[in-house]
Amino acid sequence: MTTPPAAAPAADAIDLMQVAAIMREVARAEILPRFRTLGRHEIHQKSHPGDLVTAADVAAEKALSERLTALLPGSAVVGEEAAHADPAILATLQQDAPVWVLDPVDGTRNFATGVPRFAVMVALVQGGDTVAGWILDPVADTLYAARRGGGSWCDGRRLQVAAPAPLHALAGAAGFGHAKLFKPHGIRTRQSGSAAHDYMQASDGRADFAVFRRRLNPWDHAAGALIFTEAGGFCRMSDGRPYRPGDTDGDHIILAPSEALWRELRDILRPHIEGRA
Ligand code: IPD
Ligand code: CA
Ligand code: CA
Repeated sequence: MTTPPAAAPAADAIDLMQVAAIMREVARAEILPRFRTLGRHEIHQKSHPGDLVTAADVAAEKALSERLTALLPGSAVVGEEAAHADPAILATLQQDAPVWVLDPVDGTRNFATGVPRFAVMVALVQGGDTVAGWILDPVADTLYAARRGGGSWCDGRRLQVAAPAPLHALAGAAGFGHAKLFKPHGIRTRQSGSAAHDYMQASDGRADFAVFRRRLNPWDHAAGALIFTEAGGFCRMSDGRPYRPGDTDGDHIILAPSEALWRELRDILRPHIEGRA
């Protein structure tokens, strides 16, 4: 009698630690050895001078794609670099099968210029919703992970967003256009050059909030939005809809420690959202 093949794990039963181990191995093999050692021929510009791809992005995406689809037979992949080459790949997010959404190196400009603020992001999406998300900072070797309904964790420690505070005491991640609107309220802002680091800082309370706009690529936001939400934060598109990884045409994602603060931040940003500032 032949033994039936082991059943493939369901997407929402995937072992968070197995995926974390794969991310760490890929970062050690393909990303860290190239940090501060890249040759000029290994760095290329994509859509504009700040939009880069390196040999590390390409090699890490390939390794993650192979290892994660092997872990979850029948799953598909939407990787940043593959989607850059063929934007039609984004339609994969609408299918029923589980989809790995990969940002092999987030903060590529930092990585390519020797700044140690970059990360690997992986999300598992099914039926258009994120069921699990992971962010690895390979330099600090810290890994943030969340499963839908299961809280957010950093290497065994439960994550909690910042406690709500008055507007003038808030500090968070926002671009230059937002900073101009926040400043009169005493709200401090900064830019890290890595959405992954912005999500990590908001999810563990080092930052109070974050605002993201334009190019809402799923690999930049799917993992972080789930991790922040599972850490108790309020994450919505500026029109109040919950973020979904297929929402590439939305205008802003706003993260706040409470719904009340989210409304206050959204109201301050309104001129920007409505294209008046
Ligand atoms: C970029 C970074 C950056 C954000 C950009 C992203 P990449 O990702 O997260 O902070 O402002 O919108 O594209 O290209 O370095 O993976
Ligand atoms: Ca990115
Ligand atoms: Ca990237």
